[in-house]
Amino acid sequence: MKTALVTGASRGIGREIALRLARDGFRVAVNYVAGEAAAKEVVRLIEEQGGSAFAVRADLGDLDQVDALVERIRLETGVLDVLVNNAGVSVHRHIEDETPESFDWHFAVNVKGLFFLTQRLLPLIPDNGRIVNVTSGVTRIAFPNAIAYSMTKGAVQTFTLALAKQLGPRGITVNNVAPGIIDTDINASWLRDNPEGEAHAASYHAVNRVGRPEEIADVVAFAASPQASFMTGTTLDATGGGNL
Ligand SMILES: NC(=O)c1ccc[n+]([C@@H]2O[C@H](COP(=O)([O-])OP(=O)(O)OC[C@H]3O[C@@H](n4cnc5c(N)ncnc54)[C@H](OP(=O)(O)O)[C@@H]3O)[C@@H](O)[C@H]2O)c1
Repeated sequence: MKTALVTGASRGIGREIALRLARDGFRVAVNYVAGEAAAKEVVRLIEEQGGSAFAVRADLGDLDQVDALVERIRLETGVLDVLVNNAGVSVHRHIEDETPESFDWHFAVNVKGLFFLTQRLLPLIPDNGRIVNVTSGVTRIAFPNAIAYSMTKGAVQTFTLALAKQLGPRGITVNNVAPGIIDTDINASWLRDNPEGEAHAASYHAVNRVGRPEEIADVVAFAASPQASFMTGTTLDATGGGNL
């Protein structure tokens, strides 16, 4: 059975990616940081559908926990066919309001944790493996109200480009999936139960609606599939036609 790790898979986009990859036949490691019950529910749903999964807690902002996550994957599966770097944190702040602490936190989780998790998992990733990094439409569409967050996603996209070049000869592909505005907890405070906010968010997208987590999972599943073997170092824009 092929194996996949999805970081931040207890909720939102990562949850749907985990469910989808399990349906595609992967044994899935469901990473979370605080949402133990939610992660266990994802595992339960996967098992109910005849799939295989396990939950694993690790705060990607803490490199000791990153190492523990790598060790757990090594013990549980030995080989990791697909790594989906999905976990991410975001606080909406303009440059005037950003603080060094919040700036560092964004980079610790979204960039440093992702970088060293990938580095330390590389020995487990076989030839023709897949790495998919969930970035964001904010690398193409300016969102000054989330400037530090946006910078982290730009850093990840540059990481993808360089790593794809290095791993290409082994058939390992590295790609970004860049979502538009999706209905998840990350946007709950301004999107949910706020028709005005929702209409404003929808107006960014050519399809004139907010995206669903499953729609991002479908794109990630393609990038993680054997069919995506001739695509690497690129960004799949899943923004519903953001700012066309
Ligand atoms: N939603 C959007 O509109 C949107 C748009 C573009 C890009 N994205 C990107 O898509 C990814 C998923 O976003 P989402 O909207 O699904 O977010 P979400 O609903 O807020 O879920 C975040 C997930 O990441 C986990 N997580 C948070 N901090 C973590 C840490 N330090 N270590 C490990 N896991 C951590 C959470 O685990 P717990 O449950 O344990 O807290 C949860 O499973 C992120 O990279 C985000 O930047 C989202």
